[in-house]
Amino acid sequence: MTKKLFIKTYGCQMNVYDSARMADVLAPLGFTTAASADDADMVILNTCHVREKAAEKLFSDLGRLRGLKRARQDAGGALTLVVAGCVAQAEGDEIRARAPFVDIVLGPQTLHRLPAMVARAAAAGDSARVLDTEFPPESKFDFLPETRAPQGVSAFLSVQEGCDRFCSFCVVPYTRGAEYSRPVAQVVAEATRLVAHGARELVLLGQNVNAYHGRAPDGASWGLGALIRRLAEIDGLVRIRYTTSHPLDVDDALIAAHREVESLMPFLHLPVQSGADRILAAMNRRHDADFYRRLVDRLRAARADLALSSDFIVGYPGETDADFAATLRLIDDVGFAQAFSFKYSARAGTPAAAAPDQVPEAVKTARLAELQTRLAAQQTAFNRACLGRTLPVLFEKPGRRPGQLAGRSPYLQPVAVAAPAGIVGEIRDVEISDLHPNSLGGILMREGLGMTGRDARVSA
Ligand code: SAH
Ligand code: SF4
Ligand code: F3S
Repeated sequence: MTKKLFIKTYGCQMNVYDSARMADVLAPLGFTTAASADDADMVILNTCHVREKAAEKLFSDLGRLRGLKRARQDAGGALTLVVAGCVAQAEGDEIRARAPFVDIVLGPQTLHRLPAMVARAAAAGDSARVLDTEFPPESKFDFLPETRAPQGVSAFLSVQEGCDRFCSFCVVPYTRGAEYSRPVAQVVAEATRLVAHGARELVLLGQNVNAYHGRAPDGASWGLGALIRRLAEIDGLVRIRYTTSHPLDVDDALIAAHREVESLMPFLHLPVQSGADRILAAMNRRHDADFYRRLVDRLRAARADLALSSDFIVGYPGETDADFAATLRLIDDVGFAQAFSFKYSARAGTPAAAAPDQVPEAVKTARLAELQTRLAAQQTAFNRACLGRTLPVLFEKPGRRPGQLAGRSPYLQPVAVAAPAGIVGEIRDVEISDLHPNSLGGILMREGLGMTGRDARVSA
């Protein structure tokens, strides 16, 4: 019997990957995708705990789903409610207490056991709830089905999970557990299947992806640079990206990969959080601002056109005006193509939450506005510098307007172009002609005129 599954994903790309994997483990039970919760027999909320606001969303969404479940039951039907992800891991018991109508609560490391949980919940009926937020000794990756539903032109692939760095503001080491790297052969096998299903770009994921140290078939431990070189050999895989990186884990082999691996895209998300040495030390980031500047120089020496993105936190406990000014200086020195910035959010159980010198909300708000103005100006300048250039665009899907396709430049900029649907999945040269608030516009070059030598030769 087919049943319908709706998954709502909050949080980072790893949660997006996990959501796809939960769909994969439930497919053999007959679950197909529902367009919305209203059409679904099962709803999974895959949650994020990283900032307070993200976690709050769960309980407001659960309020609505409770109504839906009641209405379904009144009509003689059923709706299974599942809470997964990092809030489930951190607050499993609280979810059960505050939302007893939730059937299953599971953490990020037990999603391979979901079919068993579904069976247990069904057997228990209304009398019991299933909770599984263990950190099991086995790796979920060894138990997930080999079959993967097609993921489109650009696909996420988790290669590393968890984090051992314990930045003092961050819940991730507690919600995802210790660092774990998937074996090289397993990653290559999954990558090959994704490419066979139409993926042309893979985004390698990990909370600290460049700490990757997977066991290779030769028994050695491979870093991310070596893994990227191996994946670059897969036929049909034209672009590789990775996220998220810690500056201290960028090693020479990874920098060399940026110099030498053509399919490794010249865009790097490298969170720095702050430009003030005092704050970086308090955050337990274990490097100073000049280390970051020098690292960027080394990366750009390897790949001159490397575009950088970052994460920033303003209002970390004890952050002074002078510290904040140091962050603005770092931004001016480095020049970012894109960035994410957040007000510090105190998370229970992390060392920073107990710090006495919390920054007032109004100060955080003012600093965030100033920081975002600066970062937005850099992003606009970066995009403007692309006007008139011809960039290779990987076309991913239909655009928002009829007759348009949406793709991405090497620098991850969304590009919308009038183009035939048949070229989805291909890289074509586009002359960038327009700047929109969140994307670039351009003109598809006639084949043979662009800068990608290979296309030119094929069509000449
Ligand atoms: N592994 C990544 C980050 C994962 S969390 C890294 O090491 O950079 C994503 C981003 O959320 C972080 O980079 C940070 O900027 C932000 N973040 C994490 N905890 C936060 C908190 N308590 N308050 C505000 N922002 C936070
Ligand atoms: Fe969190 Fe720091 Fe680990 Fe990133 S490196 S996931 S910010 S503890
Ligand atoms: Fe959020 Fe968990 Fe990712 S806390 S950012 S979903 S690792």
